[in-house]
Amino acid sequence: MSTPDWFGRLAERAQAGPSELSAVLALAGSGGDLVDFSGGFPDPELFDTRLLAELAAKAIETRPEVALQYASNRGLPGLREALRADFARTQSRTPADDELIVTSGGVDAMTLISKAMLDPGDGVLVEAPSYLGAFSVFRSHEGVCVSMRNDEHGLIPASLAEAAADARARGIEPKFAYVIPDFQNPSGLLLSAERRREIVDTARAEGLLVLEDVAYRDLAFDGSTLPSIYELGPDVTVQVGTFSKTFSPGTRLGWAAGPAQVIDAMAQAKTNTDQCAGALGQCMLESLMREGHYARALPHLQRAYGTRAQALMAALDEHVGSMATWTRPAGGFFTWLDVPGVDTKLLAPVAIDAGVAFVPGAPFFADPGAHSQLRLSFSRTPTGRMGEGARRLAAAIGFQRG
Ligand SMILES: Cc1ncc(COP(=O)(O)O)c(C=O)c1O
Repeated sequence: MSTPDWFGRLAERAQAGPSELSAVLALAGSGGDLVDFSGGFPDPELFDTRLLAELAAKAIETRPEVALQYASNRGLPGLREALRADFARTQSRTPADDELIVTSGGVDAMTLISKAMLDPGDGVLVEAPSYLGAFSVFRSHEGVCVSMRNDEHGLIPASLAEAAADARARGIEPKFAYVIPDFQNPSGLLLSAERRREIVDTARAEGLLVLEDVAYRDLAFDGSTLPSIYELGPDVTVQVGTFSKTFSPGTRLGWAAGPAQVIDAMAQAKTNTDQCAGALGQCMLESLMREGHYARALPHLQRAYGTRAQALMAALDEHVGSMATWTRPAGGFFTWLDVPGVDTKLLAPVAIDAGVAFVPGAPFFADPGAHSQLRLSFSRTPTGRMGEGARRLAAAIGFQRG
């Protein structure tokens, strides 16, 4: 019997097919001699496998009824306690017990807030550029992404009110503004304390919630932090974070902290998705935090990613030079290049042929258009390969420009 054609029966939102990005990432994942600057993956060599194996074994042997069981939809009490204590490491505001939920990573936190806040056609104000995975979550909940404006220092706070007015003029009710203030994906930029304060003031004036994504907050190369938007405006902010970059994406763990009414609605939404984050990972992370391993490991991670960033900057200076401009990140995983006169969507396959992979700029913008930008991730590329990667990129740009 032949398999029926199910495509026409798929929901409309599923019929768009794979994105351009998945094609690039599929090629990039092909291994071989490719220098891969594409995905925002942590370096697996930085996973402390021996310690993690011990913590997993300890959780299974000593607390199997917790570690191997369903957890509460808000997370295990012990981890929630450890997480609240960890806030004090870099922030002056600690969420109360009913202001915090443990999630299955950052994307899950964004899924839950979308379920909690977005009716079909509601607006989400987004940076231009911003994390494309978030666009995908907002859109799959029938949210409409409305662009704010960014400059060479990151999000322009005044554009929050402008974008909100633009949305309302189009009959779109803006529900929240999605902002990544620390070593942004994809730009690598750090938003100044002054701009963070202006964002809070505008959010209050506009009656808008800020969704602050702190995925890279703990990864400043010098270990420093600026005040979070959450600590400046806890009344108007939901902060979402992930342990994918500093612990391991394999456990899928993150959190959201914000006004109790919103967190409560997110906890309700979690009962309709995966019910709870995985308990075994939660037990491991709880031990990691309580025993001080987490905070102790951060300086090592910060230095390791800093070394990679430095190696990539030197390689770009040497090989790409005046062909492009790029950001010089002080933390995180990414640098953002502008290659004037080149459509980076067309450059991507040429670069793959030359043996180097990156993510073209277009999908990081909510609005369509040709884009001369691209994102390079340095987090997983060995320092010894940066030079060759930059040399190949320069060759591809030269070829594309003819
Ligand atoms: C800014 C930002 N937020 C969230 C995520 C996703 O986090 P997770 O893998 O925990 O879902 C990423 C991953 O690349 C990211 O860059």
